[in-house]
Amino acid sequence: MPISYNPQERVFRLDTPRTTYLMGLVGSEGFLGHIYYGPSIPDDNMRYLLRLEEKPFTPDALPRERASFMDCFPFEYPAWGGGDFREPCLRVRAPGGGESCGLFYSGHRIYPGKPPLEGLPAAYGGGDVCDTLEIICRDPALDLEVTLLYTAFSDVDVLCRSVRIRNGGQTPLDLTAALSASLELDGQDLDLITLHGSWSREREIDRRPLASGKQSAYSLRGISSHQYHPFLALCQHSASQEQGLCYGMTFVYSGNFLAQAELDQFQRVQAVMGIHPDGFAWRLEPGEAFQAPEVLLTCSDQGLGGMSRSFHDLLRRHLIRGQEKHRPTLLNSWEACYFDFDHDKLLELGREAAECGVELLVVDDGWFGRRDDETTSLGDWHVNEEKLPGGLKRLGEELAELGVGLGIWVEPEMVSPDSQLFRQHPGYAMAIPGRAPTLARNQYVLDLTQKKVRDLVYNQIADVLRSAPISYVKWDMNRPLTDVYSAALPPERQGEAAHRYVLGLYEMQERLVTDFPDILLENCCSGGGRFDAGMLYYSPQIWCSDNAEAMDRLWIQEATALVYPLSSMGAHVACCPSHTNGRVTPFETRGRVSLPGCFGYELDPGKLTEAERAQIPGQLEEYRKYGPIFRDGDYYRLASFRENGYYDAFMAVSKDKAAAAVSYTQVRSRAYRRSLRLPLAGLEETALYRETESGEVRSGLGWMRGGVLFPAVQADFHSVLTVLERV
Ligand code: GLA
Repeated sequence: MPISYNPQERVFRLDTPRTTYLMGLVGSEGFLGHIYYGPSIPDDNMRYLLRLEEKPFTPDALPRERASFMDCFPFEYPAWGGGDFREPCLRVRAPGGGESCGLFYSGHRIYPGKPPLEGLPAAYGGGDVCDTLEIICRDPALDLEVTLLYTAFSDVDVLCRSVRIRNGGQTPLDLTAALSASLELDGQDLDLITLHGSWSREREIDRRPLASGKQSAYSLRGISSHQYHPFLALCQHSASQEQGLCYGMTFVYSGNFLAQAELDQFQRVQAVMGIHPDGFAWRLEPGEAFQAPEVLLTCSDQGLGGMSRSFHDLLRRHLIRGQEKHRPTLLNSWEACYFDFDHDKLLELGREAAECGVELLVVDDGWFGRRDDETTSLGDWHVNEEKLPGGLKRLGEELAELGVGLGIWVEPEMVSPDSQLFRQHPGYAMAIPGRAPTLARNQYVLDLTQKKVRDLVYNQIADVLRSAPISYVKWDMNRPLTDVYSAALPPERQGEAAHRYVLGLYEMQERLVTDFPDILLENCCSGGGRFDAGMLYYSPQIWCSDNAEAMDRLWIQEATALVYPLSSMGAHVACCPSHTNGRVTPFETRGRVSLPGCFGYELDPGKLTEAERAQIPGQLEEYRKYGPIFRDGDYYRLASFRENGYYDAFMAVSKDKAAAAVSYTQVRSRAYRRSLRLPLAGLEETALYRETESGEVRSGLGWMRGGVLFPAVQADFHSVLTVLERV
């Protein structure tokens, strides 16, 4: 059993293969405190870490010092009002207006398996791989019941945490903060890692020493966002890629979030994660409950690499649905022709795809309503028969004759002011009464908190999907939420609108994957603006960034792989010069940089040179042969262009350690340099591995200690793929 309770010590214990998490009950009232999280230890008697003997820790014996106790006790789930002044996970406003809450243990349950979280994406697992612990805490004054949920897996070093809050009383209560998890650590020498960016520069890694006070990443844009990411890591200053202690927290959620760490007066660190309290409020009528989204927590003593591999395994095995689905190579029409296409042009692209061996044509934006540019028709999900006579059905059938599948782009959460939908139902767009909503990319956000809005849009899109042989859907979302307001809610519940929007989105995606189990769903949000574990529950891959330029992509994919498996990243060979940064890179390199993700082309093959076009079959072959090692294997980052300024290198080893693939890119050449030696990682030490190009055979240890010599080439943007196979 990965979870147990020791009644003598009054300690809860959660074990994963290589980590232990301990919590303890304190005093006759039953405060729940955090004791330990780190590499596995056999002991339960670790309560000394609560420092209960030290002043001013005397909760029962010295009631006049209760305030000092509250100020430094490591609460497992801190609540606002009683004297814990750090970030509260829970704030509750009583009918009188007062905000205070005190949580005390009242019981617990431990059982095999993991229950789903209603309406929310979450990790899953049966009794053979995980246990769940529910600790029930109560605030007797409010008649509030707070259930802390923990799941520990026996096959991966990740814990899942979430919280359910129920009003057991007779009067309504308002939650004004309901974060999902808090983590306590001793704070000597820790670095904080967060991800920052913008459109086309999603997820740049930021690592800095944790300073006193609060430091955070957050989103108030209604989406997890390009700008910040629902993730944080805390690691020792000395932690490197494969060494040192490292904690990671990521959020299974796609809307407003707060990811924050605070170094406090006692050099302790509190890290919290959850729905951002700004703009959030949730009314709990008597008997009602609120379920907070899930946080995934990991700890590794094998540096950042260990943290990443644990997240990858958890996501691939226990969260992403459709992970096993075939990921077809695809040709996307967006950079190939933007809005400028008709049936013949698409069929022409389909022919090119067929000739090159690409499996799927994706008709991106522009096939519906009267959409010839971005000013119109979102919300009118019916085929533009002027552009596509015979509709998607005819196109799909003709493509099928060529042996090419059909995929389409949709943006279901939006409406153009110039659309039939908006003219008929202006009240379906999100707007605050009496105030004109803000336009972005010429569009408004639909009020997905209303069921009739969700149904109308979903049914239109489902009709299209039923009307033609469509095997892939790219679900896009191209603007942040503003003017957040729900026409379905009374004034006192408007603080629920942003979260109810996300719940509405999840409901629509759940319907799609349930009604169309054979369709491959790829999420997108102006590129990677909603690349998070929440969306991965519905789509096994997400378009990583609108910036598909290979050198910028190396950064984006490196940072993305800190948390997410390579199998989740849509990665395409795009036009050159790049439409996002103007850079000119070799076709071969663009292929190599896309190979580890879900591969495709974002260009018109008819506009390539003969020499470039001739490389496509080889690229597809490489993807088929070696892509699975990257997508399903263990990931090791060997070097970071971000740090060294010259080259990027990473590798993956198949789970059975029978094969490994190394991706090396010389981003900038340097004068008068000799070859670069890169020791490999993750191989079986005593097994023999043959390098497929040279035929060179060495032991796993030989490759890991000796490494590979990558020649100094007199060119920028030069990529090499090295493959090892066990002899
Ligand atoms: C977003 C997506 C692009 C493309 C366009 C279409 O920007 O990220 O890939 O689909 O929308 O409008």
